Amino acid sequence: MMQRVEFRLVRPHEKVLIREIAALDRLSVGADAWSEDTLSEECGRDGGFVLACLTSNSELCGFAVFSAVLDEGCLNSIAVCERFRRQHIGEGLISEMFEILRKQGVKTVSLEVRESNAAARGLYEKSGFSCQGVRKNFYREPRENAAIYTKNFIKE
Ligand SMILES: CC(C)(COP(=O)(O)OP(=O)(O)OC[C@H]1O[C@@H](n2cnc3c(N)ncnc32)[C@H](O)[C@@H]1OP(=O)(O)O)[C@@H](O)C(=O)NCCC(=O)NCCS
Repeated sequence: MMQRVEFRLVRPHEKVLIREIAALDRLSVGADAWSEDTLSEECGRDGGFVLACLTSNSELCGFAVFSAVLDEGCLNSIAVCERFRRQHIGEGLISEMFEILRKQGVKTVSLEVRESNAAARGLYEKSGFSCQGVRKNFYREPRENAAIYTKNFIKE
């Protein structure tokens, strides 16, 4: 990694940071992005998490939104700012997420991703997720299949 970064959970009152995360999410996934209100609710909710990666000057590098319900975790969204990509920040977000979810008693983490999203699929595979199959025409605008990935903590 080129510079020191920190990973920390976002709190619901951090309006400026939440606005930046919402903007980065919009840039990455367009209309399917999380709104500021929904992100803020997610930080305050039991079992909901918004994890940010920040530089020492508090500049946002990336984020992950994930949740835990009983022993199942779900990665809902992840993005890294373009200028910070390919510096292992995505991997850092996922390994921090694993640590948080393990502490919550989670045993399996799942996610969906556009079939054509080679960067995200590369990141998930490098992080130990395995592809379980596809969900046909899961995404719209443009219509596309979702690849479904899971990661199991039990065998570790
Ligand atoms: C997917 C994304 C989060 C990856 O973040 P990142 O910080 O650049 O990823 P990392 O540097 O941690 O990469 C980890 C591994 O993932 C794979 N990878 C990452 N980007 C890749 C790319 N563009 N092409 C192929 N493989 C890639 C590589 O295996 C990489 O390891 P390596 O650099 O040692 O080869 C980033 O590209 C992004 O924000 N994309 C837009 C948002 C998005 O698509 N989110 C997922 C759907 S919700």
